[in-house]
Amino acid sequence: MRSNLSRGWEIIRGRQLGRNVQVFNSDIFIVSYPKSGNTWTKFLIANLISITDVNFNNIDTIIPNIYRNKDKELIKKKQPRFLKSHEYFNPKYKKVIYIARDPRDVAVSYYYYSIKLKFIEKDVKLHDFVAKFLNGNVDCFGSWQENVGSWLGAREKNENFLFLKYEDMLSNTLGELNKISDFLSMNKSIQELNECVEKSSFENMRKLELQNDFESVKSSNNEGLYFMRSGKSGEWREALDKKDSDLIEKQWGDLMKKIGYL
Ligand code: A3P
Repeated sequence: MRSNLSRGWEIIRGRQLGRNVQVFNSDIFIVSYPKSGNTWTKFLIANLISITDVNFNNIDTIIPNIYRNKDKELIKKKQPRFLKSHEYFNPKYKKVIYIARDPRDVAVSYYYYSIKLKFIEKDVKLHDFVAKFLNGNVDCFGSWQENVGSWLGAREKNENFLFLKYEDMLSNTLGELNKISDFLSMNKSIQELNECVEKSSFENMRKLELQNDFESVKSSNNEGLYFMRSGKSGEWREALDKKDSDLIEKQWGDLMKKIGYL
């Protein structure tokens, strides 16, 4: 395995970019460990708040990614700002929608995404990726447990913290979007929510991915991997070696049990 497994995140790590972003008390953060459904949540919310059709070209204008935009640009955004982040607990974030996903599926999704973006060579084995993933050495956002656990530990019962699970979003998208709408005091009708669900469906987002100039799409075409790759829960059962899923369960079992993944 090449030593540059995590080179894609080096600039962010080097500049402590995420920690240095100016935060306002009115900001609403959409936070997750990578590959947990953050973009989907962004599309759902953007479709709730935006008057224009949401796609991969304008999503970053509607809900900016704090790692892709300079602070001086972010500061110009109208408040309250919706911002996408992968930070482990940050006490400066006052209102947070946090999305968690089963770490065994995150490992699979993150592995293919890392190949797609050339963070790793395509001959790196999933088993080797899982070892890095378990050590929290894939990026600069802490391990899965540190990221999810830090937010749950600090904010679980806080009224300004909404904890969502990717798996619940899959099984009941409308119900979870309704929670988001209530959390944001948006008073949307079921019909309006249903429209957002439809516009943000896997199939529609896959079409939008193909139609738009999304930078990850461009860089990905070489390996034939889509950002909208599979969109399932439980894929790890086929994709991971049993010894790797066992390792994840052994290392993060307590938190996985607490969330309902074991
Ligand atoms: P897979 O790689 O398992 O397919 P993030 O946005 O946090 O990087 O998460 C990306 C994951 O969310 C990918 O998982 C992607 O397919 C999935 N995803 C994105 N939009 C989705 C949608 N509308 N429905 C279901 N899954 C979605």
